[in-house]
Amino acid sequence: MAFLKEKFSDVRIGSLIFLEIEGWIYWLFGSFPGAIGIILRNIICSFLFKKKEGMVWIQPRVTIIESRKLQMGHNCGINTGTYINAKGGIIMGDYVLIGSNVTISSGRHPIEGRSPSIFERPTEPCPIVIENDVWIGANAVIMPGITLKKGTVVGAGAIVTKDTEEYSVVAGVPAQIIRYRNE
Ligand SMILES: CC(C)(COP(=O)(O)OP(=O)(O)OC[C@H]1O[C@@H](n2cnc3c(N)ncnc32)[C@H](O)[C@@H]1OP(=O)(O)O)[C@@H](O)C(=O)NCCC(=O)NCCS
Repeated sequence: MAFLKEKFSDVRIGSLIFLEIEGWIYWLFGSFPGAIGIILRNIICSFLFKKKEGMVWIQPRVTIIESRKLQMGHNCGINTGTYINAKGGIIMGDYVLIGSNVTISSGRHPIEGRSPSIFERPTEPCPIVIENDVWIGANAVIMPGITLKKGTVVGAGAIVTKDTEEYSVVAGVPAQIIRYRNE
């Protein structure tokens, strides 16, 4: 019981109720196939997201946690298997394309000191910003607190540990600039 108290010390009852409802809604509609699935998830996200300006194309089996802290612009796409945790707040611009099995998590576990265990500590919010016209390749990881500047391309399998530059193409672990997008 003491463990639960410590772990959820920063979580309000309203948030827990939202998380429960959100979990069930995504469970019900998250695997629905085809165009009908995409349309259904688009409608649902209009109610769950903090802000959503246009259509979002969410393929089946995408996990989104704390959607009410996620803001999204026009025409964004999220591919299968991607995990998005908006606990610390995520702002996405227009025409953001997210490949399959990408991890975008806006919370950090503090690691300094040996007690209490990392599992017991509350998560620290670290907002993530993804500007317009960003493409994130399959299996990439976007670390907490990162800003992906306008026009960034993140290569498949990259781990992005630093803010990117506008229209840069980054790849590798940790991600480095391999080139810039031409005019
Ligand atoms: C990042 C990316 C867009 C770069 O494309 P590109 O500019 O045509 O790059 P190139 O193929 O010319 O490669 C340039 C160099 O970067 C390296 N490179 C390219 N992509 C890389 C990646 N994802 N990770 C590590 N290195 C990579 C290449 O090996 C090459 O290195 P070299 O010069 O030493 O030979 C592309 O490789 C990529 O990863 N696309 C994502 C694909 C994907 O995930 N699709 C499904 C999701 S929708």
